[in-house]
Amino acid sequence: MEEVRVKRRIVLVPVPAQGHVTPIMQLGKALYSKGLSITVVLTQFNRVSSSKDFSDFHFLTIPGSLTESDLKNLGPYMFLVKLNQICEGSFKQCIGQLLEEQGNDIACVVYDEYMYFSQAAVKEFQLPSALFSTTSATAFVCRSVLASVNAESFLLDMKDPEVSDKVFPGLDPLRYKDLPTSAFGPLESVLKVYCETVNIRTASAVIINSASCLESSSLAQLQRKLQVPVYPIGPLHIAASASSSLLEEDRSCIEWLDKQKLGSVIYISLGSLALMQTKDVLEMAWGLSNSNQPFLWVIRPGSVPGSEWTESLPEEFNKLVSERGYIVKWAPQMEVLRHPAVGAFWSHCGWNSTLESIGEGVPMICRPYTGDQKVNARYLERVWRIGVQLEGELDKGAVERAVERLIVDEEGAEMRKRAIDLKEKLEASVRSGGSSWSSSLEDFVNSLKTKNSM
Ligand code: UDX
Repeated sequence: MEEVRVKRRIVLVPVPAQGHVTPIMQLGKALYSKGLSITVVLTQFNRVSSSKDFSDFHFLTIPGSLTESDLKNLGPYMFLVKLNQICEGSFKQCIGQLLEEQGNDIACVVYDEYMYFSQAAVKEFQLPSALFSTTSATAFVCRSVLASVNAESFLLDMKDPEVSDKVFPGLDPLRYKDLPTSAFGPLESVLKVYCETVNIRTASAVIINSASCLESSSLAQLQRKLQVPVYPIGPLHIAASASSSLLEEDRSCIEWLDKQKLGSVIYISLGSLALMQTKDVLEMAWGLSNSNQPFLWVIRPGSVPGSEWTESLPEEFNKLVSERGYIVKWAPQMEVLRHPAVGAFWSHCGWNSTLESIGEGVPMICRPYTGDQKVNARYLERVWRIGVQLEGELDKGAVERAVERLIVDEEGAEMRKRAIDLKEKLEASVRSGGSSWSSSLEDFVNSLKTKNSM
């Protein structure tokens, strides 16, 4: 009898940005652990670090893609639009070559939802494909809703404070203002990109870095809407942790944390893209200093416009942070959140940071900057009840009060209990027999076997 050979290669197509590279590389590790081979197709900008965690992966670079200065000039949304335009043809060539070299062995192209150019090659070579979403299922649902609104009238609603404070029909508890509009581009072009990201075209599955214990109703809603299997396989940082930091981590902060009291420190980080205005930095510094709690603050170079790092901030800033604060350019975030001295996380609520914080049972001060972060912040405060959101103009009094609520008050202790409860549920979901690991990931891998016998 002729032997049936099963295709084993997964092609991953990450967006060249930290918050996207991290989960897709973890997904690669998870799939590799299930016996699949991994090829990562990169753009020339933002190469994935050659960490030993990925030494068994195969890497390819799409020729002629955009550069870091294009990102600066175009901004994230127009950069993505352009990247999708120019990569379509060269990605087809890459895939054609790969198919020749690997003897037709591609089981599935798993592409980040923002790398929708991948679909042209998938169609041409008739390959199975899956869309990978690095945000929450709820944010995906919101993008689908936004993809079908009229940009002009939605903009008017958003500008009307009475409307923007109201719950958006069908998305309770999200208000109009919590929907993932973006600080990085005009509404119309953002909505156009959303239309592309939620259009799954010929993809036969959607993989989401989430777990059913966090957002079962959004997952069910997506499942009904998309009509292809939706696999919540997260949180990937617990299931398949891997080091993929694009910036150098300053580990001196761990020694500093070692000297602080249990549960006393506020860890502050706004992820890889958010910006802070000087006046907000000062209000934060005042509020943190007045709270009398120690704080570890990640200030990413370039995140305060007009300043390389912190050198052009007023002298007042150094005075305020010198007594109880410790500042780094980039931290080993997972290790920081796991440290017993950390009592709360002040975050922009990127989805990775949100999952990482819940995964360590750390309650959050939520100050979303843009996009899906607003959705996550609302869920942290209203659905999971493990966060306090700071809204409107940032003010030192409100900062001090938020720190007090989380670190000193009974309310904070309750939030920590709920966060620990969720942490345990997340851990269970990626254990053998859990909903993410055993059901979702294994179902996805098995679905490849049935599609790909050759
Ligand atoms: C953005 C979106 O907000 C997010 O929801 C989407 O899924 C990806 O794009 P980003 O701003 O990068 O993400 O935030 P986040 O998703 O939180 O990812 C940041 C990553 O950088 C986290 O994995 C975090 O651990 C890491 N990080 C951050 C560090 O390793 N060190 C730091 O000092 C700060």
